[in-house]
Amino acid sequence: MSEPIYQTDALIAEDIEAYLDQHRNKTMLRFITCGSVDDGKSTLIGRLLYDSKMIFEDQLAALESDSKRVGTQGQEIDFALLVDGLAAEREQGITIDVAYRFFGTEKRKFIVADCPGHEQYTRNMVTGASTADLAVILVDARKGVLVQTRRHSYLCHLIGIRNVVLAVNKMDLVDYSQEVFDKIVADYSAFASSIGIESFTAIPISGFRGDNITLAPSANTPWYAGPSLVDHLETVELRTAADAEKPFRLPVQWVNRPNLDFRGFAGLVATGRIAPGDPVRVLPSGKTTSVERIVTLEGDLGEAVAGQSVTLTFADEIDCSRGNVIAAAGDPPEVADQFEATVVWMADDAMHVGRGYWLKLATQTVSATVAQPKYEIDVNSLEHLAAKTLELNQIGVVELTTDKPIVFENYAQSRALGGFILIDKLTNATVAAGMLHFSLRRSQNVHWQPTDIGRDHHAALKNQTPKVLWFTGLSGSGKSTIANEVEKRLALMNRHTFLLDGDNVRHGLNKDLGFTETDRIENIRRVGEVARLMADAGLIVLTAFISPFRAEREMVRAMLPAGEFVEIFVDTPLEVAEARDVKGLYKKARAGELKNFTGIDSPYEPPENPDIVVDTVTMTAQEAAQHIVDRLLPLK
Ligand code: ADX
Repeated sequence: MSEPIYQTDALIAEDIEAYLDQHRNKTMLRFITCGSVDDGKSTLIGRLLYDSKMIFEDQLAALESDSKRVGTQGQEIDFALLVDGLAAEREQGITIDVAYRFFGTEKRKFIVADCPGHEQYTRNMVTGASTADLAVILVDARKGVLVQTRRHSYLCHLIGIRNVVLAVNKMDLVDYSQEVFDKIVADYSAFASSIGIESFTAIPISGFRGDNITLAPSANTPWYAGPSLVDHLETVELRTAADAEKPFRLPVQWVNRPNLDFRGFAGLVATGRIAPGDPVRVLPSGKTTSVERIVTLEGDLGEAVAGQSVTLTFADEIDCSRGNVIAAAGDPPEVADQFEATVVWMADDAMHVGRGYWLKLATQTVSATVAQPKYEIDVNSLEHLAAKTLELNQIGVVELTTDKPIVFENYAQSRALGGFILIDKLTNATVAAGMLHFSLRRSQNVHWQPTDIGRDHHAALKNQTPKVLWFTGLSGSGKSTIANEVEKRLALMNRHTFLLDGDNVRHGLNKDLGFTETDRIENIRRVGEVARLMADAGLIVLTAFISPFRAEREMVRAMLPAGEFVEIFVDTPLEVAEARDVKGLYKKARAGELKNFTGIDSPYEPPENPDIVVDTVTMTAQEAAQHIVDRLLPLK
């Protein structure tokens, strides 16, 4: 019986299509509502949907009977029931995800992101806010500005929302008192300016009674002369209008080359405007040309502006590929590979300092590592706290390094070229959203020095193909012993080798590192870099490190030409390594005298697809070494 109600919640493609058809030529405003259940958020959204007739008859019937069943106030419809569709929400009284809803008025169409307000849903809120033009911050007139009001406002401002509505709700419960309203506005004003919100629009409303929601001003608030909520939503300036006035940028989504006569560069105009004949610069190469045509499915255009998807053709044949940015020739964005950024951590697994993540910014995807946060921002007090990492829902300021230069802008200047996400390379999950502040000078001043004698030359002189034989396994698994045996065999075959061993490297190059996850990541990063240099010098490198994390082993693999990295898993079970306990470390670890010991209280992630597997249970170290050498042959 109550089922149909929930359908308004769903983002069903058909509904959106039908909806868009109806409103094709109207402008669209995306906004987010922030508040918690008690603030009457669901009631307000339900009211907006109801008043704009976006509810179908059968749903309305269900709503009316549901309201009676749940037994809410009097005969009136409980609009919250329309919105709080998820059963879990009703049971627990919380909203648990971002729901997008659509409605329209005579003048505009709207997409509203309804986000949960609790602190543990910061990531949901950031997600909802990231595409919004405007935020409606709901305040309960009886309670005024709360910690959560501040948190929501801060997050919306952080994400770059410049249109803020302070909706003072439940005015009916404070007798529509102007005094109450004015006091809340004054409180909020002081806070807003402290975090950089330059202006906001305050509206006294009652979602439940419908005051100042739709066009007619409410007779209950004769002292209020401003717009109603819908009036404001219908007339506020859209982001795209502001974006159109910025310098031209088009991140290239794909290169359209159906035949030799046509080469077009397709993408969404992020900011600015462009017309045929305009000079443009392609970044990061910096090459210039001019636009010849602006091609769309509906024919060529005389001009394209921010928000339009187009294909550009150039007057000259210059290189331009997916991920490049086409920009106004005289006012291009920056290119850099080191940045300061604010990051919102969205994964259950905390941020790993030094680990490589995929960074996606506009149409560019590169590998990036994050340094230890400069500080974490307490989302309630806005204080800066010292932090070693960022956990789920935490926000911090970090320095990032990308493996290739990227085209970017400050986030406040451009959401499209300043906003990014980080993706876990192994799980492909989005783990963070970020906003770039600026590039760090040093990246512009350190250049790659080309040398004349290259790695091929080094390798040819030694008459061998460089390799990195990467041994991984638990402490005491036999990595060093087997690696040593392998090196002896290679030496007999006149191969030029070098063995890097964990215990030894930790006495020199890495003596500043311990055994926390962060230190282990850095240990392997450095060893990977050294192994790479040695492979460039033409050597066959053997490394014997626990190297417990898949991500870092894969990082080293990615540093080397295909086929040069050979992952060798020394698959000796923990029980065996522990029983041997050659260095007596397992005993200490079990006694609690040694912290973060691999296999005991620090994880080991075995390789999923090792190139070679050996152990020291079913084979001797000599047999294991011979097996490895046999697998490597022929060595050329
Ligand atoms: S890794 O995890 O960063 O790759 P690495 O191979 O360099 O470790 O060093 C491991 C060696 O350090 C072990 O074989 C052991 O002798 C010693 N060691 C000392 N403390 C620890 C610890 N907490 N966990 C693992 N190994 C430790």
